[in-house]
Amino acid sequence: MELVNKVKQGFEQTFSAAADFVVKAPGRVNLIGEHTDYNDGFVMPCAIDYATLVAVSARDDGQVHLVSLDYQCQQDQFSLNEEISFVENKLWANYVRGVVVELQKRGHVLSGCNIAITGNVPQGAGLSSSAALEVGIAYAFDQLCNLSISKQDIALISQAAENNFVGCACGIMDQLISACGKDNMALGIDCRSLDLTEVTIPDGMRILMFNSNVKRGLVDSEYNLRREQCEAAAKHFNVSHLRDVAIETFERDKQGLSALVAKRAEHVVYENERTLAAMQAFNASDITKISQLMAGSHQSMKTLFEITCPEIDFMVDTIAKVLGDKGGVRMTGGGFGGCIVALVPDNLVDVIISEVENTYQSETGLKESVYISQPVKGVAVI
Ligand code: GLA
Repeated sequence: MELVNKVKQGFEQTFSAAADFVVKAPGRVNLIGEHTDYNDGFVMPCAIDYATLVAVSARDDGQVHLVSLDYQCQQDQFSLNEEISFVENKLWANYVRGVVVELQKRGHVLSGCNIAITGNVPQGAGLSSSAALEVGIAYAFDQLCNLSISKQDIALISQAAENNFVGCACGIMDQLISACGKDNMALGIDCRSLDLTEVTIPDGMRILMFNSNVKRGLVDSEYNLRREQCEAAAKHFNVSHLRDVAIETFERDKQGLSALVAKRAEHVVYENERTLAAMQAFNASDITKISQLMAGSHQSMKTLFEITCPEIDFMVDTIAKVLGDKGGVRMTGGGFGGCIVALVPDNLVDVIISEVENTYQSETGLKESVYISQPVKGVAVI
């Protein structure tokens, strides 16, 4: 069943009335610029045609009632007039609760509502299913209560929910692209100013995502540890964020950093440069350059930032061998499993998918999943 019908029907079955409107918030894939966002650096994601859908209608009793169609129709409810706390046994509901708390903190006056949620962004795959949920909920309240919040603020509120309520110290990339994505465009994002630059996908190139289906343990603790290491490096260079360390400064002043922190910082400093170069290479359709930059990014995530794993490296190597300099491939997202992203010419799409199908499972014992999407626009009422 089409996702929009699923959410409308699920809503009606639960609340015995039709929804007033449905919001669609996309997941994302990051083409380059990994672990740079919380260093105030540069990223280049696009929103994808896999999304979280939120169906909504108003209530007049100050209550929020929720149903998650993807978690056996689990329900949750809370009052807007009492303190909203974390619920242990329904993790999905905390994304909604967290967004409501952050909206209220900023003084927005909310009204009660019924909400049904479904989605097809694969979870735990590095394609930002949680950001899509947060952004979908923030936008749903914006629409329901006529709050006129800017898309940037929708993203910041959603990120704050994840940082303060859910407890993951993520950066701004995922929420910002889910809120602000553009049809057929990737966006170069300056994560300090939040300025967005449109980046074209070269003609005839497709964006493929392969989920390694590696179970991601330790993600949050390793993620937060990388953040701390980056902050330690920034302190060494006497700046607030590694964004402010140029390559020359890094090479000149890196002595005194521990070997480990130096590796982490080297990744971030060079990844920022690669991302800026990629924005130009994409706009110039310079596929050879894109190929090099994506390969450099992957190598750096593997050896310096140490966030890949053997299954992901195998997949990237397998695809890189077929692609040569005709496209690019790298791990995408937070790491330790999840997805890889490949920019592939039309005529190699089938070849590459079969190559992965023929080798990945026999090498790793895991079966991959494949997704294809061109960039789509950000959150909207549909
Ligand atoms: C996760 C976080 C993002 C970003 C990426 C790594 O997706 O949510 O903020 O840090 O990892 O680039």
